[in-house]
Amino acid sequence: MTNATITGWGKALPPSVLSNSDLESFMDTSDEWIVSRTGIKERRISHVETSDMATIAARHALAAAGLTADDIDLIILATCSPDTLIPSAAAHVQAKLGARRAAAVDLNAACSGWIYSLVFAAGMIRSGIHRRVLVIGAEKLHYYMDFSDRSTSVLFGDGAGAVVLEPTDEDHGLLSSELGMDGETAGYLCIPSYGTIGDRVPDEPSEVGVRMDGPEVFRRAVTMMGEASVRVVEEAGLDFDDVDILIPHQANQRIIDATARRLKLPSEQVFLNIHAYGNTSAATIPIALTEAIEQGRISPGDNIVFAAFGAGLSWAAAVLRWGPRVEPIETSDAAFPPSERTALDLLQPNFDFFGLEPR
Ligand SMILES: CC(C)(COP(=O)(O)OP(=O)(O)OC[C@H]1O[C@@H](n2cnc3c(N)ncnc32)[C@H](O)[C@@H]1OP(=O)(O)O)[C@@H](O)C(=O)NCCC(=O)NCCS
Repeated sequence: MTNATITGWGKALPPSVLSNSDLESFMDTSDEWIVSRTGIKERRISHVETSDMATIAARHALAAAGLTADDIDLIILATCSPDTLIPSAAAHVQAKLGARRAAAVDLNAACSGWIYSLVFAAGMIRSGIHRRVLVIGAEKLHYYMDFSDRSTSVLFGDGAGAVVLEPTDEDHGLLSSELGMDGETAGYLCIPSYGTIGDRVPDEPSEVGVRMDGPEVFRRAVTMMGEASVRVVEEAGLDFDDVDILIPHQANQRIIDATARRLKLPSEQVFLNIHAYGNTSAATIPIALTEAIEQGRISPGDNIVFAAFGAGLSWAAAVLRWGPRVEPIETSDAAFPPSERTALDLLQPNFDFFGLEPR
């Protein structure tokens, strides 16, 4: 039976770094608190739009697959921070890539969005509807950050990652998956009034910023990600010993450690980059996958577990067996346009909107 396998990969991380000590300069927090509770040291702040980051990551993924934009029939962009609601951010990516043959759609399952997109794309390929699909995760989350809320705003960052998915008749590709949603718990992680539900001009700026009950989300994330990871490994017909690497959503190092314990995986078999980028929502896993390949952490035939949770509250997990190639076929010089602005410069509109003055 035809399966869907990853043949290209790429990432786009904005150059402006927001460190924990930058946060200390205007917020009652500390590097020690943030690192010990989350594992995060820095995050990136983008001076370009979500679709720009997605396009850069996609160009790298296309080059790694040895394809051009004309070869792509579908673009799925996992994002909850699109440049525009109409049209979708995927429409902007399709135009920027010049992918004239491609259909394009955004998918919002928050931090679970990239695994959701991977599974939907694999379904399209297996059914023969599409052959070559770009599956992108891209977020400009700083737009929603209310920096007067120290428990939430320190967690998130901007970035993008992308893969190319193609058909294969060989013994690799997506082996199993689980997608889930518990919409009754939506209030634990949400933007209360961004959308038709809200006032066109909100009474309170905080109504259009991310609001989260951290301990509730933490507790549920540990359960959801852990249990779903175990189930997809079983569904793939594998034992825990057969898992070569866990590439988890990077939201909190303690949640990742708990998931690894459920799979009985030692830390060497868990990919972590949360210290460098924080939580980039739908982008964390394709960025982490790209870095795992760049660092030689993936070998041909490896069984990879992906696992995520996020707003909804949603969760997703999948097992994918890597194909024969870990080297890119070609490389791309796609890069961010130069910017002189620091991360704090880029946050000034947030400070103005949410009514916060740097100390
Ligand atoms: C947000 C999170 C790090 C908070 O950690 P926690 O150990 O649960 O901390 P609590 O929320 O119980 O707060 C503990 C104390 O730290 C304080 N605190 C919160 N943020 C702080 C910060 N950035 N710096 C310093 N102190 C902080 C709180 O005010 C609280 O103080 P108090 O006891 O005096 O009231 C943790 O709950 C978490 O990671 N949850 C999951 C969030 C997540 O991953 N969301 C994304 C989903 S995709």
